[in-house]
Parts: sequence; structure tokens; C-alpha cells
Amino acid sequence: MKRSIPELQHSAQPLVMVTAYDYPGGQHAQAAGVDLILVGDSLGNVVLGYDSTAPVTLGDMIHHARAVRRGAPDTFMVVDLPFGTYHTGVQDAMRNAVRVIQETGADAIKMEGATPEILQVVQTLTRNGIPVMGHVGLMPQTATAQGGLRVQGKDDAGARATLDGALALESAGAFSVVLEAIPARLAKLISERLTVPTIGIGAGVNCDGQVLVTHDLLGIYEGEEKKIARRYAELGRAAREAIAAYAADVRAREFPTRDNAFVMKDDVLDKLY
Ligand code: KIV
Repeated sequence: MKRSIPELQHSAQPLVMVTAYDYPGGQHAQAAGVDLILVGDSLGNVVLGYDSTAPVTLGDMIHHARAVRRGAPDTFMVVDLPFGTYHTGVQDAMRNAVRVIQETGADAIKMEGATPEILQVVQTLTRNGIPVMGHVGLMPQTATAQGGLRVQGKDDAGARATLDGALALESAGAFSVVLEAIPARLAKLISERLTVPTIGIGAGVNCDGQVLVTHDLLGIYEGEEKKIARRYAELGRAAREAIAAYAADVRAREFPTRDNAFVMKDDVLDKLY
């Protein structure tokens, strides 16, 4: 059963959010009983093979979110507005957010940052009935300007800006705020100061919820486990081993077998000779 925003905001347990990018991803997340699904623009990295989220378009997000929604009709679904779709004015942001809601069936949109311009967008969207999840700390869409994909909020100015940004997002109407890659004690303080739930990734255990990129938790890619994630499966290795086993069977003529083949009557075949 899909949870409402007040239910999410008053959850006794930490909220669980995972990313999904397609129909099976939506199905698995819903069947596992997560509270929220994020169709993140991490799509660009983990599905589309870009080296950042910047090339992801509104069309990409809508295409993938529609598939996720078909797989998870009963789970609260948040869709990222990608880079450039809410930076050129409030009207553009409103138009793009409406497209996401109407064309994907999303329950909310997410956007990164807490500049005065972004806060104005958040205020306009929320006043017009579009729920917004904010996002502070490390913001992958503008990571280059933040000095790369690195932990944020460690010095005086960074910690103050992150706290103030989160508070301002709540005041602007955000129903929840993602805290990405900030020190755990700063995340705890922000979570205590905000009345809306914080959802952490690389922000310690004291957030009101946690989010992980599904490809990280499923181990789709080999390599070292990321500091901010935990790998609960090795699906990448399992997939490669399965495909290699299939290839070996085909080359050895061990697949398909009689069980995989269709039969026909002898007399129908005989007429072809
Ligand atoms: O795009 C994404 O997956 C995200 C999460 C990391 C929060 O924004």
C-alpha cells in the first residue's frame, strides 16, 4: 500500500529508499517493501554509462520513470529533475516538474541545492501542489563546482551552508531532504533541527531514513565496495558467470536440449523433402 507524505513524515522506523530505473527494478523494490523509490539521475552513471549525471535529459528521466511506475504502482515514487531542467527560471522548472508528474505518475520530484533561485523554485512548486524532496551536501549534478565527488560540510563555512540550506528547503516547503556525503554528526544535527525527515546517503545512521543506489547494494559492478554503501549481493558476478555458462553450453551444443525444442508430426515434415 502506497504511503502518504504524512505517513512518511511520521514513520516510527527509519525510512527506506532505493533507486530504480526500470520495470524489474520497480517490481523488486516494491516486492521488498521499501517506503520510497527514487528514480535518480544516477541513471546516467549506473544504467546509461555516462561518467556523470550532467548528460541525463528530462526525456531520459521520464522514459525510465514510466517503466519503474509500471513495476511499482503502489510505492511512493520520487523522480529526480535532471541538470538544467530547473535552473533556467521558475516557469521552466514548473513546466518540467508538471511533465514528470503527469507523464510518469510520480508522487514527488527531487532537486539538488538550496540557492535562492532553487528555493524560489521549491516554493513555487510546493505551493502549486507538487511535492518536492530537497538534496544538500554532495550534489552530483554540480559536483565539479563543489570540487569533485567528495564529502561536504567539513569546514565552518561548508557545515553552516549545509545546515542553513536544509533549513531553508524545509521553510520553502520541501517534504523531506536528502543529505549526501556529509559528516555523521552534522547530519544528526540537521536531522534534529528539521521537522521533515532527512534521508541520508553517506551521512551516518542518525538520519530519518537511508537511500542507496540499487546497483551498489546489489553488487552489479565489481570493484571495491564504496565507503557509503554496503553490498548485499554479487549480482554482477552472478550475471557474468551465468552468461559465460550459457555461452559454453551453446558452443558445446548442450543448449538447447530436446526439452527446449518444439516438435512436429513426421508427415508434415516428410512433405517438405
Ligand atoms: O540520483 C540518485 O541516485 C540520488 C541519490 C544518490 C540520492 O540522488
